[in-house]
Amino acid sequence: MTIAENNAVSTSTWSAYMRALYDNHEPPRALGTVDIAKLEEAAREKLKDRKEAFLYVFGSAGTCSTHDHNISEFNRWKIIPRMLRDVTHRNVETTLFGVKYSSPLLLAPIGVQGIVHPDGETATAAAAAKVGVPYIMSTASTRSIEAIAEANGDGQRWYQLYWPAHDEVTLSLLSRIKKAGFSALVVTLDTMLLGWRPHDIETAYLPFFHGVGVHVGLTDPAFMARFGLAPYPADNVPSWPYVPARQDELIRNGDEDATQRAFLGKEWIREVTSGVFKTWDQLAFLKQHWEGPLILKGIMCAEDAELAIDYGVDGIVVSNHGGRQVDGSLSTLYALYMIMQSPKVREAQASGRLTVLIDSGIRTGSDIIKAIALGAQGVLYGRPFMYALTVGGQEGVETQLRSILADFDVSLGLSGFKNLSEIYHKADKILVRD
Ligand SMILES: Cc1cc2nc3c(=O)[nH]c(=O)nc-3n(C[C@H](O)[C@H](O)[C@H](O)COP(=O)(O)O)c2cc1C
Repeated sequence: MTIAENNAVSTSTWSAYMRALYDNHEPPRALGTVDIAKLEEAAREKLKDRKEAFLYVFGSAGTCSTHDHNISEFNRWKIIPRMLRDVTHRNVETTLFGVKYSSPLLLAPIGVQGIVHPDGETATAAAAAKVGVPYIMSTASTRSIEAIAEANGDGQRWYQLYWPAHDEVTLSLLSRIKKAGFSALVVTLDTMLLGWRPHDIETAYLPFFHGVGVHVGLTDPAFMARFGLAPYPADNVPSWPYVPARQDELIRNGDEDATQRAFLGKEWIREVTSGVFKTWDQLAFLKQHWEGPLILKGIMCAEDAELAIDYGVDGIVVSNHGGRQVDGSLSTLYALYMIMQSPKVREAQASGRLTVLIDSGIRTGSDIIKAIALGAQGVLYGRPFMYALTVGGQEGVETQLRSILADFDVSLGLSGFKNLSEIYHKADKILVRD
């Protein structure tokens, strides 16, 4: 990876959004706020009649301590701003896996978006394309691979794989994503089994069991053939809004469609989070059948990052799934710091053999600066875009993306830097930690 050093494109386009907000004399469209706490509250309010849907997004594993660590670690690191430097013209473009991106921000793969908004993932994928941020599609989507690709159009898209138990299903998914224009494969390693999530367990809220969040499976020929069924059409959608009690009632009353979706949903979850753990050796299968970049999501220590290099993968996402899998785990920013103590990782990164991304806790422009200063080449943005989708659909996500990117651009300039290479791996010069 090369962080863009070329200042030929010497404009600060993202910060123009802040100027436009002042010029318009009105709060940001579709959301009414640029404050993350207010956005979260607005999403909670919007879903007040379906509290479980909000809690599904908001909640984490156990006591939520891992999520808290994610946030507090970002707060412990502090930026040291520099003055009297000419950073008038800024450029936050970057290159990942040989492809140029307009910023280091990507949308984290988040499943079941159809529980918070009727347009689900298609709204987010369209928003991502419009703003110019890559969309990472989740295997737990409420829309098909093909429908999301269509909504994303000419946008940049990657695919996140929950690794199926059966090879024929994996092969089918790989062929579908290739055909649908997904350029990179992100394999999530931390969810071979669902985490212990009290928020959801108390209300037994698991949309998959009613066939919501399983459209990748419902539309997959290899998976459906096992049951002697034709795949659902690519434009099939779950009913809106998702109300578990209503689905249960339909099933009790013998509704065939609801019964079949529930059955297939349970089978799909068995397929992709089976509780059967994969091992390093099995990566060879994915490498053999996927030509594009292969990225492991969920790496949390230097030893595993080094194994990723040994097994020839192209990238890692330092991630604890937003604290949703292991309660009491270390934060991702601290994990990134520890991973970067490994000379082997540093060397692989410098030579372009390993790309390092991070998620879990990214909320502000300054968070992006800190992550890059500690050695990340890109960051994945999670829950805030889900709250924006809840409140404002596609336009809400567009607004939220423009907000964090404007915040990033403004904060970068005010800190005295004009591009990513000036902050990349410069934590010892530009950050202090409490
Ligand atoms: C509601 C929800 C659903 C998620 N679904 C997936 C998923 O399907 N696949 C995946 O790899 N990660 C999934 N994640 C984890 C995100 O990709 C990302 O790691 C996490 O949201 C980062 O934490 P943050 O949102 O607190 O910043 C999900 C997260 C949330 C909140």
